[in-house]
Amino acid sequence: RLLIIDFGSQVTQLIARRLRELNVYCEIHPYQKVDDAFLDAFAPKAVIFSGGPDSVMRPGSPRPPKSVYELGVPILGICYGQQVMMQDLGGTVEAGEHATAEFGRAYVEPAGRSDDFLFGWFLEGREQVWMSHGDHVAALAPGFEVLGTSPGAPFAIAADPARRFYAVQFHPEVHHTPNGRTLYENFVRLAGFTGDWTMEAYRDEAIRLIREQVGDKKVICGLSGGVDSSVAAVLIHEAIGENLTCVFVDHGLLRHNEADEVVAMFRDHYNIPLIHAEESELFLGALEGVSDPEEKRKTIGRLFIDVFQKYAGGIEGAEFLAQGTLYPDVIESVSFSGGPSVTIKSHHNVGGLPEKMGLKLVEPLRELFKDEVRALGHELGLPASFIGRHPFPGPGLAIRCPGEITREKLAILRKADAVYIDQIRRHGLYDEIWQAFVAILPVRTVGVMGDGRTYDFACALRAVTSVDGMTADYYPFSHEFLGETATRIINEVKGINRVTYDITSKPPGTIEWE
Ligand code: XMP
Repeated sequence: RLLIIDFGSQVTQLIARRLRELNVYCEIHPYQKVDDAFLDAFAPKAVIFSGGPDSVMRPGSPRPPKSVYELGVPILGICYGQQVMMQDLGGTVEAGEHATAEFGRAYVEPAGRSDDFLFGWFLEGREQVWMSHGDHVAALAPGFEVLGTSPGAPFAIAADPARRFYAVQFHPEVHHTPNGRTLYENFVRLAGFTGDWTMEAYRDEAIRLIREQVGDKKVICGLSGGVDSSVAAVLIHEAIGENLTCVFVDHGLLRHNEADEVVAMFRDHYNIPLIHAEESELFLGALEGVSDPEEKRKTIGRLFIDVFQKYAGGIEGAEFLAQGTLYPDVIESVSFSGGPSVTIKSHHNVGGLPEKMGLKLVEPLRELFKDEVRALGHELGLPASFIGRHPFPGPGLAIRCPGEITREKLAILRKADAVYIDQIRRHGLYDEIWQAFVAILPVRTVGVMGDGRTYDFACALRAVTSVDGMTADYYPFSHEFLGETATRIINEVKGINRVTYDITSKPPGTIEWE
């Protein structure tokens, strides 16, 4: 296995992701934890030093233990990790001045001789890379030679091939170093990895870690019916069986048949103890007369916590709360918490619950990205149609029903949404779309059906493409598709007589209507 020593870079987890893509097993450990005894016990086959925000010029800045260089295994240093390696081994680092600091795109050109590490690089003469550094290496440590250079980093790539030590100033793990994967591939090959690690192995390891953390204690999992919490629940159930109880809060704002499907799948198919907290009366009652979007969100969020606490409180001896937190949630909350950004929407989550209930957290998906969670779900035997489902917001249909929420409008919305999604599936477009749904508008319009006048609701169809939900564009359906869908909705759903298509991108729009 490979050890990544984390010096605090924002993108350390991306290194792990690149390695998982290469089917190499790795673990990230913070530098504070890595000492001689740790290295001895871990016995890595290769080591990577991550980047980090500190400066090696500062006394007391983060270091690996010196013994790491005596292990006889390949080491790759990235950015801060490069500078640490050079300084530790007898080179020098200079503080950045404006002229040599590089942030963003840069080009590295070959220098010196080629090496196995570079196999597949510089085919085009130079390589685009992503830099983010103030300081830079000014003199190489003994034994090192330069392999690549950029305007701000004379030693952008350095190597000591005899010891198999490699050091790069840029970040090969990020998207903007398009050929970065090749460097990781070459590095792990040099280190003797065969690339035989799989998601199956990840699952076994995750199960082992859950057992280690939880022991014979009881765990509660808040199940939303979404992919993340479902994968977390099935994984934890494999690890600890009956000691897991799921609580599914049904606020009456779910899609057509959704509550039944979730209950059937978890309780009947997986045999996971499940409490179906059917509290739609409570939620819909409290939402009566509420039309302000933020008030809706806050009302639902508050009740959700109350209801969850009420049901979970009855589970005797529970000590842990499981959440399907993913890596992007972790990064966002680290880099944006306390930041000056304004609240566009109060997100519905169960933040604060663990403290309130005196529970410890279990978050088995914390290191994974969405597509990896899907792969893990696949490994756990969850149905493909379930794993590929579009995201669904915590406040549910409430935020797809601008204006006041009534039971009548919710019933119409559920039917229209089901027809729309059926259309998308029939045309084979579901997997190309990030998210698609219907919003029922708070206006009635006049129409004519048969020989009669109608005065019914208008609705808007929404479908967007996106990679992470942060930015999005509308999906370019054909006019035929849109026409056919409008006809079907108006014919099949009583209460709607006009269909529009929302062609707003995000920004300036948001994906949901509220
Ligand atoms: P917006 O509407 O802000 O949505 O462009 C971006 C993504 O987040 C989802 N969303 C939520 N998810 N709780 C959630 O769990 C919420 O309160 C919430 N609000 C929006 C939305 O469906 C889209 O995928």
